Amino acid sequence: MISLRAERKEVTSIKSDALIMFIPSDEKNKKSIKRKLGALLGKSIVPTVLDDIKGKQGETTVLYTPDIFSAKRIILSGIGESEKLSLEYLRRAGAAAAKTAVRMKLSSVAYMLDIFENNDVPLNASLADISCALAEGAALGTYTFSHYFTDEEQRSHPLQTVSFNASRKNTLNDIKEGIYKASNICRGVYLARDLGNTPGIDLYPETLAAIARDECRKAGCKVTIFDEKKIQSLKMGGIVSVSKGSERPPRFVIIEWNGGKRLEKPYVLIGKGITFDTGGISIKPSAGMGDMKMDMSGAAAVIGTMQAAASLKLPVNIVGLIPACENMPSGKAIRPGDVIRIMNGKTVEVDNTDAEGRLILADALVFAKRYKPKAVVDLATLTGACVVALGHYATGMMGNDSSVIESLKAAGERSYERVWELPLYDEYEKLIKSDIADVKNMGGRWAGAITAGWFLKKFVDDYPWVHLDIAGTAILAENADYTQKGASGIGVRLLIEWLRMMRT
Ligand code: BES
Ligand code: MN
Ligand code: ZN
Repeated sequence: MISLRAERKEVTSIKSDALIMFIPSDEKNKKSIKRKLGALLGKSIVPTVLDDIKGKQGETTVLYTPDIFSAKRIILSGIGESEKLSLEYLRRAGAAAAKTAVRMKLSSVAYMLDIFENNDVPLNASLADISCALAEGAALGTYTFSHYFTDEEQRSHPLQTVSFNASRKNTLNDIKEGIYKASNICRGVYLARDLGNTPGIDLYPETLAAIARDECRKAGCKVTIFDEKKIQSLKMGGIVSVSKGSERPPRFVIIEWNGGKRLEKPYVLIGKGITFDTGGISIKPSAGMGDMKMDMSGAAAVIGTMQAAASLKLPVNIVGLIPACENMPSGKAIRPGDVIRIMNGKTVEVDNTDAEGRLILADALVFAKRYKPKAVVDLATLTGACVVALGHYATGMMGNDSSVIESLKAAGERSYERVWELPLYDEYEKLIKSDIADVKNMGGRWAGAITAGWFLKKFVDDYPWVHLDIAGTAILAENADYTQKGASGIGVRLLIEWLRMMRT
């Protein structure tokens, strides 16, 4: 990841390859900023160049500076209409500028924050939040997954240092706070994206568990890993059954961050960790099956969040739980029609071996009870039906507690990792009734995201619980402002925002 820092320097003595300045699109505010720019650049700038700059969102323009500047270039990044300005638009503008620098093969850039320090553009946010948003855009927009390229050029880009420049002494600390927050959060998102993008040949339950252990311990968490024997002895029948068809044994990972008071109850985060989902005996069609290397995106979100929460030393207690399996077909695999027993003894008729995520989550939801949690949030690439319903721009949300639902909704708006509630009405419950067991793992053609949610609800105890179906938001088909095709790392920014709201 690029290194993010905050500093205070005279604009002419900043030694970056380019200065980054922001420009709005509406005439009034644009004029005053252009006037300042004209004064800064003097005769070296042709006035027509300034006239041509529209300030539209995503638009970047490169200008060249006169000799008195140490930095040779200015990259102007449009932020659109100042009236509509939001933290999300700043993430996009931050990304657009950094991506232009990457295309130009620059190795360092400096973001000029004076228009925000001086309130030249109206925006109802703290300077810490503004710097954080710009830095998130810069870091997340320049993410690449290049580990497997052998060509040096493809493996890295030269952009290394991104600094955020305070024009005054009394704002430097606020900017520092925002940059510190952004670098820790983005490191968590990078980890989640890397895990999602790593193919199943290299990422399987044991390696997923080992990476979770190494990264989260480094950040200050306590990590415990249950192996197959321990999982069997705990009678986690969902995990045991789903992993049966694979040569790779399952793992159950417990990550703890105790930043809160000693006896305070924790928030429990559960992440679906299917390292590859072939569907099992109910095998999936081959087109697009490769995307199922990302079926552990829920686990990746939890690992990235735990790492970020610990590095930020959030004053809350959090437990991350990750059931990890590979869903493969083989002579040892479970079959459609089999009846299995979840950790609490409840029986499940496996109508379809491709509805495997809910089976391993059921064990984790039962296990979560041990912690007497304040609330449990699970994240899972659970259903294709959720992608059909909401596409790639909203995560499906279901739960039993309106206050957790509302707080996650608010965190979703702030982080722009938005969530949308689907109903868990009683009427849906009968769709997963089994003729021979307590419940079956599939609900038929309609309301697939909801019947999956209802299945999970059957294993939820009396704690507040929310389920997030990230099937559409974790796996992206194209590049956008600060996300790339592939694993989005969704959930880390949402959960960190939420946990910050929850701290007491
Ligand atoms: N991992 C898939 C869901 C999925 C699909 C995630 C597409 C991301 C993109 C899950 O295990 C699955 O296969 N679900 C089935 C459930 C069905 C058999 C009840 C589905 O959605 O088809
Ligand atoms: Mn499946
Ligand atoms: Zn799956």
